[in-house]
Amino acid sequence: MNSSLSYEQLNKAADTYGTPLYVYHGEKIQGQYQNLLSHFSNKSTRFFYACKALTNIHILALVKNMGCNIDCSSINEVKIALHVGFDPANILYTSNSVAFEEIKEAVSLGVHVNIDSLSNLEKFGAAFGGRYPVGIRIRPDIMAGGNLKISTGHNKSKFGIPYTEKEALKSIQEKYTINISALHIHTGSEIKDVAVFLQSATVFENLLPDFPTVNILDFGGGFKVPYQPNEKGTDIALLGAEVNKIMEQLSTKMGRNLTAWFEPGKYLVSEAGFFITQVNVLKQSGDIIFAGINSGLNHLIRPMFYDAYHHIVNISAPEKELKNYAVVGNICETDTFAWDRPIASIEEGNYLVFYNAGAYGYEMSSNYNARYKPAQVLIKNEKSTLISRADNFDDLLQLQTPLT
Ligand code: LLP
Repeated sequence: MNSSLSYEQLNKAADTYGTPLYVYHGEKIQGQYQNLLSHFSNKSTRFFYACKALTNIHILALVKNMGCNIDCSSINEVKIALHVGFDPANILYTSNSVAFEEIKEAVSLGVHVNIDSLSNLEKFGAAFGGRYPVGIRIRPDIMAGGNLKISTGHNKSKFGIPYTEKEALKSIQEKYTINISALHIHTGSEIKDVAVFLQSATVFENLLPDFPTVNILDFGGGFKVPYQPNEKGTDIALLGAEVNKIMEQLSTKMGRNLTAWFEPGKYLVSEAGFFITQVNVLKQSGDIIFAGINSGLNHLIRPMFYDAYHHIVNISAPEKELKNYAVVGNICETDTFAWDRPIASIEEGNYLVFYNAGAYGYEMSSNYNARYKPAQVLIKNEKSTLISRADNFDDLLQLQTPLT
């Protein structure tokens, strides 16, 4: 939740560009980054924007220009980051279940790589020995995160090398004298509790003596941002203070300069994004009033996929009395954004805005039902710029071979 753009600005963007429309606020992204910088030691902390949250190149350029690094989850994200002009030294590739060819390609591009299986580590050792420093993703068996679908560190998770496999990990490292430069843990998304990050630090502490070449501790992403009004996110000031302290203690204890890395996605872009839709149809059914909008789970899947809450405001008439609505989409299956939500009294044609739409909104959208994906607009210095257009009919057919 955040209202860094006024209803007036959002209404204007909707009138100018049409709806459905994703709108992002540049200053909000910059402000979030500044907040991180202000609470973590600038000597020993680096932030890598987890660009899977939103990969539009204009957003990435903004992220690069504010001095932030970038975390990628596929080789194509790495290539997009290079296209935007990120220095390979500022690009991290955290792989999962990838063909070794992708890791080889990442090495050839000169970016940092995290490996998350003994199998790929063995292949890495055979191919590169100790010539290319590499990070290891550890599964710490910590249950954390907003819901099971976005929880990645528990003992049934596919991610990382279980910390219990330490001996196997060591023997591959020794066999090929692999230069392990980083240990990585990402336990999930929407982690409010600072203690979870401190638990990761304990796992690192136990592993560090066995891996003397490690000088980076990568704590992953997952900072929680508020989605509901009055909800609290991760206490960044507290986290910063604790991590600064732990990094200093561990550096002294291990006799090496250790650097903390983080990979925030939602924290940087979630609240900077607004998804504007328009009400097509009002339909009364017993005590339910459906507000049917010109969008669906094809544009914002988080409510149906994760039961995620997105705050909704009727920006056409925000002062009207509240009524309860089921806000639904126009897709051929149940695509309910909110089941029984108080919203200022709606008329057909009103604009409804979804908050927290910056992370995993557009990025997870699709052309289901042969609907167009929405346009995206960036507002910065009060100026709005179209940063990707909506699809058109030709786009829907362009990958398909012609009928003969
Ligand atoms: N680092 C790694 C290795 C990750 O897998 C992720 C997210 C992040 C960093 C960034 O996490 P964040 O700071 O954004 O929480 N689609 C879901 C979230 C999936 C997150 C996947 N990995 C959602 O909409 O809630």
